[in-house]
Amino acid sequence: MVNLGILASGRGTNLQAIIDAISSGRLNAIINVVVSDNPDAYALERAKKHGIKTEVVTKNDFPEKEGFDGRVVRILKENHVGLVCLAGFMRILSPHFIRAFPQRIINIHPALLPAFPGLSVQKKALDYGVRFSGCTVHFVDEGVDTGPIIIQAVVPVMDKDTPETLSKRILNEEHRIYPQAIQFFAENRVEIKDRKVMIKDSPKVEGVLENPPVKIFK
Ligand code: GRF
Repeated sequence: MVNLGILASGRGTNLQAIIDAISSGRLNAIINVVVSDNPDAYALERAKKHGIKTEVVTKNDFPEKEGFDGRVVRILKENHVGLVCLAGFMRILSPHFIRAFPQRIINIHPALLPAFPGLSVQKKALDYGVRFSGCTVHFVDEGVDTGPIIIQAVVPVMDKDTPETLSKRILNEEHRIYPQAIQFFAENRVEIKDRKVMIKDSPKVEGVLENPPVKIFK
């Protein structure tokens, strides 16, 4: 069991995937709080619909990064959060924030890192002409999308893809691998060695475009 704090700025489909995975018993976790920097984020509505506590911290309230991050860290600590999940949170975390949750902050990114870190990455992948893209769940460190990789899933890029169609295909995989990565935490199976993540007792599955092999969320 793991106590989650989810940080989201927007529509919150990844939050929804986590909520659904918990409701259906596939994910052994509790969402203790959802925090947003955007009072209009639909993610907040999703949380409320499921009776999950929400908090809003805006940059108007805390114009300085340190003050903002300090407030969010306090909220997460007060709510006994054991794992912080960024789910479309549009702010870079300060080193102070990251050190407050060592190896306990993860993110979902809509590209196959280390290719295409940052923003608008589905368009960047299309413009570059890659044949495959996908998504990555990774630890958050002090760089931008540079932390150790936990799971990736791959999707093909089609000739007629637009950023929207590619985003949708990637998003389907995001909704599968993010809850799965969290479940690995819930089962205490995630270990970092140097910058490599090891998943203890990972099942052996041949020929899948996922790493590590994923059985639970097929
Ligand atoms: C996702 O594409 C995620 O990979 C990125 O931000 C987007 C959030 O979407 N970090 P949603 O708010 O979860 O629907």
